[in-house]
Amino acid sequence: MSDTTPALRVDALAKEYKGGIQAVRGISFEIQPGEIFALLGPNGAGKTTTIRIVVTLLRPSAGSVVVCGHDVSKEPDAARALLGYVPQELALDRHLTGRQHLELSARLYRVPKAELGARVDQLLEVVGLSDRAGDSIRKYSGGMKKRLDIACGLLHRPKLLILDEPTLGLDIQTRYRIWSFVAELRAEGTAVLLTTHDMEEADHLSDRIAIIDHGEIQAAGTSAELKAAYGGERVKAELGRVELSEEQRTKLAALAGVEQLEERGRALLFVTPSGRELAPRVAEWLEQETGEPPRSLSFGPPGLDDVFLKITGHDIRDGDEA
Ligand SMILES: Nc1ncnc2c1ncn2[C@@H]1O[C@H](COP(=O)(O)OP(=O)(O)OP(=O)(O)O)[C@@H](O)[C@H]1O
Ligand SMILES: [Mg+2]
Repeated sequence: MSDTTPALRVDALAKEYKGGIQAVRGISFEIQPGEIFALLGPNGAGKTTTIRIVVTLLRPSAGSVVVCGHDVSKEPDAARALLGYVPQELALDRHLTGRQHLELSARLYRVPKAELGARVDQLLEVVGLSDRAGDSIRKYSGGMKKRLDIACGLLHRPKLLILDEPTLGLDIQTRYRIWSFVAELRAEGTAVLLTTHDMEEADHLSDRIAIIDHGEIQAAGTSAELKAAYGGERVKAELGRVELSEEQRTKLAALAGVEQLEERGRALLFVTPSGRELAPRVAEWLEQETGEPPRSLSFGPPGLDDVFLKITGHDIRDGDEA
């Protein structure tokens, strides 16, 4: 394998489950060695399905997956040997200690006996579990279990580490700890494919992000590229108690400087060339027309959540496109 071989190449991948559910509809992307790549999408977008195909647990209906030059459908063993997989659902044996679990996994991964002890010690250190290695997993917190699972995925020094929702349900401190640990892998040339529906995680951690929705990649690029493609700034006004009428919505959407208007819960989200100019106009309009100023008002460059909303069109009200 030469240095220019991608760690992962996914080409026109599709999966239709029995019963006709099209979970993945022709997605393509590449991950280079040392790159952290996130599939960002809501529940049911097709993230886990994609990952299960990459790790050879599921067969695609169409398309191809190549791990470090090895096509998963032609050379599944070679591909499997080069990747580490940390599933969305934890699968730890609660009766073992952390160390025993790692040792057992190392044998399954065929880590050479002579290296096994040192490798296990090193990974316990890396994920910060050395001092709890002798405790049974039953006594671990959720974050400790997740860290142990990630250590398992790294036992055989994979070229590609695959993390399905690595920090789902974990507290902020543990999330940061896992992020900094994953970021360190980059320096060793390990490529990382992770899935998340956490905007902050995708934004903070990944080199590149693919926004996936309904089984399709809707946009991909660095966080900065995605935000630039948003094409403007956003103004967010949170409504107090008022309910807007259809007519009021139409009028708001027609204010000078409004390119797009979405509603997310109690918040109005405007896309505009200049947030600084539009924000006071919105506040004034709301106060005059509804008798109540917005509960809160903010403006500025878009966040990844704004990009997501604009690209996927979730929450677009009927009639906007007409
Ligand atoms: N074994 C299965 N049989 C049939 N349909 C399935 C199966 N697994 C997943 N699906 C469907 O495929 C679609 C994609 O599911 P998938 O688990 O890939 O989504 P996801 O992006 O990982 O979601 P989440 O964020 O909830 O983990 C969903 O509509 C789901 O119901
Ligand atoms: Mg999933």
